[in-house]
Amino acid sequence: MRVLVVGSGGREHALVWKIAQSKLCAKLFCAPGNGGISQIAECIDIKADDIAGLLEFARKEKIDLTVVGPEKALALGMVDEFTKAGLKIFGPNKLAANLEASKVFSKELMAKYKVPTADFKVFDSPDAAKKYIQVNGAPCVVKADGLAAGKGVVVAKTVDEAKDAVTSMMQDKVFGDAGKKIIIEECLIGQEASILVITDSKIMVALASAQDHKRIFDHDQGENTGGMGAYSPAPIVTVDILKEVMDKIIHRTIDGLAKEGIDYRGVLYAGIMLTKEGPQALEFNVRFGDPETQAILPRLKSDLVEVMLAASVGKLSKIRTLEWDRRACVCVVCAAGGYPGDYKKGKVISGLEDVQKLKDVVVFHAGTELRIINDVGQRQEQEYLTSGGRVLGVTGLGTTIKEAINKTYQAVEKIKFEEMQFRRDIGRRALG
Ligand code: AMP
Ligand code: GLY
Repeated sequence: MRVLVVGSGGREHALVWKIAQSKLCAKLFCAPGNGGISQIAECIDIKADDIAGLLEFARKEKIDLTVVGPEKALALGMVDEFTKAGLKIFGPNKLAANLEASKVFSKELMAKYKVPTADFKVFDSPDAAKKYIQVNGAPCVVKADGLAAGKGVVVAKTVDEAKDAVTSMMQDKVFGDAGKKIIIEECLIGQEASILVITDSKIMVALASAQDHKRIFDHDQGENTGGMGAYSPAPIVTVDILKEVMDKIIHRTIDGLAKEGIDYRGVLYAGIMLTKEGPQALEFNVRFGDPETQAILPRLKSDLVEVMLAASVGKLSKIRTLEWDRRACVCVVCAAGGYPGDYKKGKVISGLEDVQKLKDVVVFHAGTELRIINDVGQRQEQEYLTSGGRVLGVTGLGTTIKEAINKTYQAVEKIKFEEMQFRRDIGRRALG
């Protein structure tokens, strides 16, 4: 099969890495990809949300399966366009992608189909929202309705903080139209976990559980980021909890969508808060998590292409279960200095060759580019430069989570670039 992966981050590198191992995959492309990805797939210079460009490429290259990484292309209807053209693609269609693209849609669906989630109210006027905050007090959570690159959620400890969030989303329009409507919801307390399932809308197959670390600094301090690390499994997700999540959150949501006439195919990511009252859904993403995917896929023994293909054509009943490596996996993100704020690019990365020699360690590139240097003797040499905020996801497997942590940090210590920053406590939560 000829496979195309859409996207350019660490998640896509992990997908490409896993897909390349499939016996079904004969040729692999990635659009646009990155420096690391270019070592295992042919990178194509087409942006991840250029649906017309990708469609033309897929037709011309006779792509048998397209796998979409980022949510934007899904929300724009990429799957609908490919399906219309008779091309197989793994991901939800535009209506189903609303589960992530519109928090109002998602919360209203959850309320209708009794999916446990925080109590909420929808507002389209800033005055009404602020009045509500004044009466109901803090803490509360303010969420922009639309896509906001992971920045549209404010967990407000005080009334002023919550009102400021309303001002910035609805009046200063920092997220543009994404803040036209907002949600104010109850603040839940508990531990978080990510549950990802692959579904064809009838069968739901859970991937191994994971937990990510969203804050920039150790001990969950500082600003929210795209994710500074992850580990799998999340010991806090017991068999019983997983069953409850599947029954009350995943099934009710996908069955609910089906009742609304919406067929969900692809991967569904549920952000869960494990509260005293049981698991509650915080949010849905309609794609693989980043960096959860980097910690989950190295543990997957089954053929991912087979599973994604089955889901995309509605034949997941043929698969039903996945086989997992029992070992734990930890992914530590090495980020550019200044991230998640302004940061510099173009720094030379060293130590990657040393890390390649380590067993059970793999480095997924998130923001790198490859520079070819031809030395005098015409021997081709290459080096990697940083090209993004999150640069690398260093990933290690170990018999125990402790061993996985040690192995991963051993590798991280070998990697250097100017102003590199990383958290030193990834996975520690799982040690109890
Ligand atoms: P989201 O972008 O929806 O994943 O939200 C980002 C983060 O905000 C989540 O990972 C949680 O840490 C936090 N969060 C979202 N909703 C709530 C809630 N209702 N109560 C407490 N924390 C929340
Ligand atoms: N790790 C969180 C996300 O992918 O949205």
